[in-house]
Amino acid sequence: MFITFEGVDGSGKTTQIQLLQEALEADGYTVVRVREPGGTQLSETIRTLLLSSDVGINSVAETLLFNAARAQLITEVIKPALQEGHIVISDRFYDSTIAYQAFGRGLAESGVAEVNSFAVQNCHPDLTLFIDVPPEAARLRAEQRNQGNKDRMERNHNSFFDNVYAGFKQLAQQHPTRIHEIDGLGTKNEIHSSVLKIVKSVL
Ligand code: TYD
Repeated sequence: MFITFEGVDGSGKTTQIQLLQEALEADGYTVVRVREPGGTQLSETIRTLLLSSDVGINSVAETLLFNAARAQLITEVIKPALQEGHIVISDRFYDSTIAYQAFGRGLAESGVAEVNSFAVQNCHPDLTLFIDVPPEAARLRAEQRNQGNKDRMERNHNSFFDNVYAGFKQLAQQHPTRIHEIDGLGTKNEIHSSVLKIVKSVL
């Protein structure tokens, strides 16, 4: 089973992924956890380029780089783990590319979707948990976490993140069976209970 977590920067995905992994492992499942971009030698190298480089990267190149990192992660890690019968949890996947590169950067959604589709070669999440934290609240959390050290993506303007958030909301409406919206403003344990309930209903 392939589970992905989505949300704007500062939505608390990483904490929730950790809690879900612990709960599933306590139930005897083997969990393989990955994050995007990253998880293979090539994908981590691309991550460094995308997040920390001062090299100019235009929106189309950015879309292709996220997808190059993704394609490698799928063949090296995600597909083999799924074939072994493990649960794979990914911190972000292709919905982020629609939200950030189409809605955030303003690229045509159909074009970004086409690149995503070519990159994933039929590897789709069974379940996506969108941790819904509105951009202003997420901004505050991200600022506390980063203490002013922003990566290349985080340096975007507030309006960029407002558009990214609108993108996630639209995706959730377009794919109501796969994408579950979870109120990310509750307590850590409340959110975890909601996540677990949904995951267990699908397992
Ligand atoms: P990361 O530090 O992993 O952020 P977070 O903890 O919020 O997930 O950095 C990943 C950044 O890359 C984040 O700002 C979202 C962005 N991103 C895209 O713009 N497009 C994508 O396809 C993906 C996977 C991530």
